Amino acid sequence: MGGNRYDASARWNGRSGQAWVQLQSVMDHMYRPLESLLVDTVDPARRSVLDVGCGTGATTVAVARKLGPGARVTGVDISDSMISAARARDAQLEFVRADVQDHEWAPASFDAVISRFGVMFFDDPVRAFAHLHRAATPEAGLVFLAWRDIAENPFMTVAERAAAPLLPNLPPRRPDGPGQFAFADPTRVHHFLDAAGWTGITVEPTDVECTLPEPELVGYFTRLGPVGLALPDADDETRTEVITTVRAAFTPFIHGTEVRFPAACWLIRAQAAPRLKTPGASAVTTNV
Ligand SMILES: C[S@@+](CC[C@H](N)C(=O)[O-])C[C@H]1O[C@@H](n2cnc3c(N)ncnc32)[C@H](O)[C@@H]1O
Repeated sequence: MGGNRYDASARWNGRSGQAWVQLQSVMDHMYRPLESLLVDTVDPARRSVLDVGCGTGATTVAVARKLGPGARVTGVDISDSMISAARARDAQLEFVRADVQDHEWAPASFDAVISRFGVMFFDDPVRAFAHLHRAATPEAGLVFLAWRDIAENPFMTVAERAAAPLLPNLPPRRPDGPGQFAFADPTRVHHFLDAAGWTGITVEPTDVECTLPEPELVGYFTRLGPVGLALPDADDETRTEVITTVRAAFTPFIHGTEVRFPAACWLIRAQAAPRLKTPGASAVTTNV
């Protein structure tokens, strides 16, 4: 992917990673419906699962709980602070600090690879998915959640749209580069997975309502996203003005004590190797 190299390590070891750690319980709550959806897709017979871009480990812990003590569940993330938070959450699980684009796993060591929003930040997605493919057994399935288009997820850009006149240097979103909406185009995702050796690729829309407690809203938008990243560098007056303006812009999403928004996502599945068809079996994969 051309242009300047996206420095995932700098971003996720800096303010973004710190914000996710500070907001761990808010993010856990907000994305719990997506955690359930992802974990439900994992076949309970899987014995060795890798959670990619596991962050502070919510989905890693949830899948480990589902599979029970006989399973080996590993979380991997590029962020020191997020991996430390994940280890603090569950000291029994294995959490590896690594860049998935470079990390060499033992070949054929995982029979399922999962991710909730942890695979859209690669500078070289084909390289990352090829490493994951080598790490997968021939029977392994891959399943992950990624955001659909910006236009379908207006909640995610409320803050930057409202703050733009006050913070004119906010970086533009790049739907064709690494970032939150990098996998909005299913054709690109299909291409990345196919080029990396994955097969049986399906991309299915899924819409889930997410919530956060209203008192957490200001803490959320002042720490995360382009506005959250820019605010620490703003002067006090601008900061106050941004908070007032952005808080007002979120009004349509506020319902009493709760903030509610629809998360428009893709549920993407693939297999490490083609599956033999049994007579009468459905072509659609239900579990990985
Ligand atoms: C949006 S967060 C999602 C975190 C977690 N999956 C969740 O749902 O709570 C994206 C995560 O991907 C991680 N990440 C980004 N690039 C990565 C890379 N190249 N290798 C490993 N992890 C990466 C970030 O550090 C961050 O934790």
